[in-house]
Amino acid sequence: MTLPNDWPTSTDRRSLLSEWTTLGVGGPADVLALPRTASEAAALLSACAERGVPWRALGKGSNLLVGDEGVRGVVVSTRDLRSLDWCGEGRVRAGAGVATSVLLQEAMRRRLGGLECLVGYPASIGGAARMNAGGRWGEVKERIEAVVVIDGDGTLREIPAAECGFGYRRSALAGRLVVEVVLALPEAEPRETVERIRAIQREKGAAQPLGLPSAGCFFRNPPGSSAGRLIDEAGLKGRAVGGAVVSDVHGNFLVNRGGATASDFLRLVDEVRSTVARVFGVDLVLEVEVWGAGSVPARA
Ligand code: EPU
Repeated sequence: MTLPNDWPTSTDRRSLLSEWTTLGVGGPADVLALPRTASEAAALLSACAERGVPWRALGKGSNLLVGDEGVRGVVVSTRDLRSLDWCGEGRVRAGAGVATSVLLQEAMRRRLGGLECLVGYPASIGGAARMNAGGRWGEVKERIEAVVVIDGDGTLREIPAAECGFGYRRSALAGRLVVEVVLALPEAEPRETVERIRAIQREKGAAQPLGLPSAGCFFRNPPGSSAGRLIDEAGLKGRAVGGAVVSDVHGNFLVNRGGATASDFLRLVDEVRSTVARVFGVDLVLEVEVWGAGSVPARA
């Protein structure tokens, strides 16, 4: 795809998406755009709408499997949307590209807490809001007041949390570009926050394969059940296709043990799903978002 001269944002030619996802697989985007401000992003999406160019939003790529053939159109990375405005009384407006680890640290410096549930997720706050990231220790929606998005036609608007459709690893923010998240954080003694963080890190370190490239949990937990346990009890731990392998540590983590391709992961996903369906009669649904790949339907 050739870019028009008046393309309203900076672009990055290193568009191989394997470099932009934690799984480390995936082909190129036609264009990888890196808007630096919300208005630049709005101009970009209007330009896409006018020209009929498809676009997709990319955070830190930690919940994403991109097909080996890549994706057509524009991938809009929120990496450079990094503003962080502390407005008093625990309120912060964070650019979508702010790393959750940075937000956590900066909050702690201000004696604020409430984001410990995000420890260990290599996420951006925009992506965390989009997926309502979290787990046993809480979900990010508990701290979100509003989300600023750009709609497909380039309109910028602020959506109150109550209208964001937050649920279990989902929101109604798909198809929009999250550019800013407004959070309200409670006061917290830094020492106590650090203790909570360490406890979560210890639990995660023991239960999850944090040393290998992964996309976190691959499948949603079926209602009242655990995808990891089902995969484990179906005897799938250690099952590999090429460089993609079901972790020995946690069954719901499919990891890249080196040299994996997206098709390795997609074949492994098929095998895991069909085995779990045969053994337990449960149809696992992907939590990870799949781009391209003409592949497994995400059905999220
Ligand atoms: N289990 C097994 N074998 C395994 C994995 C798990 O028997 O291989 C058992 C565990 O012993 C436990 C149960 O299954 O009794 C549930 O496992 P775990 O406590 O690890 O939690 P999970 O439901 O698998 C969820 C989230 C994680 C989050 C943890 C902790 C989902 C799909 N996963 O995992 O989130 O870190 O709780 O809060 O909801 C993610 O979203 O990417 C993610 C990793």
